[in-house]
Amino acid sequence: MVNYKKNKLNNIKNDNSYKLMNIKEIAKPVEKSLDEFDEFFKNLMRSKVSLLDLIVRYITKKKGKRVRPTLVFLSAEACGGITSRSFIAASMTELLHTATLVHDDIVDEASERRGIASINSAWSNKIAVLFGDYLLSRGLLAAIDNDEFEFLKSLSTSVKRMSEGELLQIQKSKDNHIDEDTYFKIISDKTASLIASACQLGALSATDNKEYHQAMYHYGEYLGLAFQIKDDLLDYQAKSAQIGKPVGNDIKEKKITLPLLFALTQVDKAKSKEIIKLIKNGNLRKKNINEIIKFASEFGGIEYAMKKAIELSSKAIAELSILPESESKTSLTNFANFVINREL
Ligand code: IPE
Ligand code: IPE
Ligand code: MG
Ligand code: MG
Repeated sequence: MVNYKKNKLNNIKNDNSYKLMNIKEIAKPVEKSLDEFDEFFKNLMRSKVSLLDLIVRYITKKKGKRVRPTLVFLSAEACGGITSRSFIAASMTELLHTATLVHDDIVDEASERRGIASINSAWSNKIAVLFGDYLLSRGLLAAIDNDEFEFLKSLSTSVKRMSEGELLQIQKSKDNHIDEDTYFKIISDKTASLIASACQLGALSATDNKEYHQAMYHYGEYLGLAFQIKDDLLDYQAKSAQIGKPVGNDIKEKKITLPLLFALTQVDKAKSKEIIKLIKNGNLRKKNINEIIKFASEFGGIEYAMKKAIELSSKAIAELSILPESESKTSLTNFANFVINREL
């Protein structure tokens, strides 16, 4: 395991003790299953309604990173071996994930996703709401059709938590104050819950060993938290063309994420009030957004958030210790490094 404490925060990529891998390299042990999954997934979304089918074809043109199906397969493989049940699990998680992204872009008024126009912007909010519902129901039905009640229970709980997380986030965007505990509650519900389920389902599809099921759930929870912190950092640091979605969107939506939340604790009341006022009041221009990003960076917010992400990634890796050594286990370790170092 990498000893992160020895690394300078902004120098992680230069550490020779591991090679930073992209997701394709990490997914190598389960590459064949992922190829099969693509077909399986596409078929599950088919509909006789031509408008629906048109949108399905539109979204399958640009695949995402397939983080969740990759985690299902790697978890299954590391816990005993991929089975036909792993395919159901991978499809369910990706369907529910895609449904939440379609809805998320309506909520966030985001015009781009995966480098192309979002459904709400290419069609309309109305169509995006209904299309998201369609994907959600297809995801849940995949469990019913295959008598996978344990999958259904785990994923329905995650979907419930995702809605709660999104609503808590909206509630907090109207307040003038958000503390770190609340931030972690939001990201645990809206992001980590589904990633934890994905890893747990992978284990469930491969073994009856309850300790493995639990370890994989916890691995996914830590990984998911780190993943979302990094996502929030990318909103401050990345270029839009690089991540395929708008940057600075969180600030525009009046969302205070970890970098800013921390920076606000480092200044006096007057300064903090001034920044909060800038965010909460009126229409933010590009110049204001850049000013806020600069503030977060100057007062150590970026560095602090990265430090938290690294801690969580290490905790995820520690959960894997009960698994026997395998190529897939190594990939799960590399995955935990990938989520915090990724640039898309
Ligand atoms: C984006 O998830 C939503 C978050 C939980 C931050 P991904 O980054 O996994 O999205 P895609 O599937 O690769 O587009
Ligand atoms: C992603 O949340 C959607 C869910 C986790 C449900 P965000 O709004 O933070 O993510 P992006 O940046 O749009 O992908
Ligand atoms: Mg959102
Ligand atoms: Mg969003």
